[in-house]
Amino acid sequence: MITLTVNETDYELDLDPRTSLLDALRDHLALTGTKKGCDHGQCGACTVLVNGRRINSCLTLAVMHDGDAVTTIEGLGTPEALHPMQTSFLNHDGFQCGYCTPGQIVSALGMLDEFRAGWPSHVSASLDGQTDLSDEEISERMSGNICRCSAYPNIVDAIRAARDERADKGESEGLA
Ligand code: FES
Ligand code: FES
Repeated sequence: MITLTVNETDYELDLDPRTSLLDALRDHLALTGTKKGCDHGQCGACTVLVNGRRINSCLTLAVMHDGDAVTTIEGLGTPEALHPMQTSFLNHDGFQCGYCTPGQIVSALGMLDEFRAGWPSHVSASLDGQTDLSDEEISERMSGNICRCSAYPNIVDAIRAARDERADKGESEGLA
């Protein structure tokens, strides 16, 4: 028996130890917002936050997360009160079929927290953190999230706009 806190609700689960975190969410908790694309860590459709960090939930076993806090797309907003990142994806036409979108949105929030913490990316000019979240930075940092519809330019616009709006309000870039 393990305990998972998912979207601030505690669940006790008796799982086959081979169950991935993705399958635990989708098949045992009926949280199907998190998508299964490749099931091999290659597409990012299954991205969730675990203790605030983004991970591919298909690549990890649920039993490895006993006591952890998981945030899925269902934990970010409701149809009546969208999360600002969800609103930005709508406003900037950041999706077509929408299959990759939950993973993109969750990944974007994790990515912005990483950026704020000063983590460099492959394209960062310096290893000491960087101040400008350029389109190139966003694209590189989101490169683990594949969009088969190729909505990438609008996804980058949506992420930048959501981040700029929060920065204008003096808020942090991430979930906080
Ligand atoms: S389903 Fe997990 S990375 Fe593709
Ligand atoms: S919107 Fe269709 S896969 Fe991204």
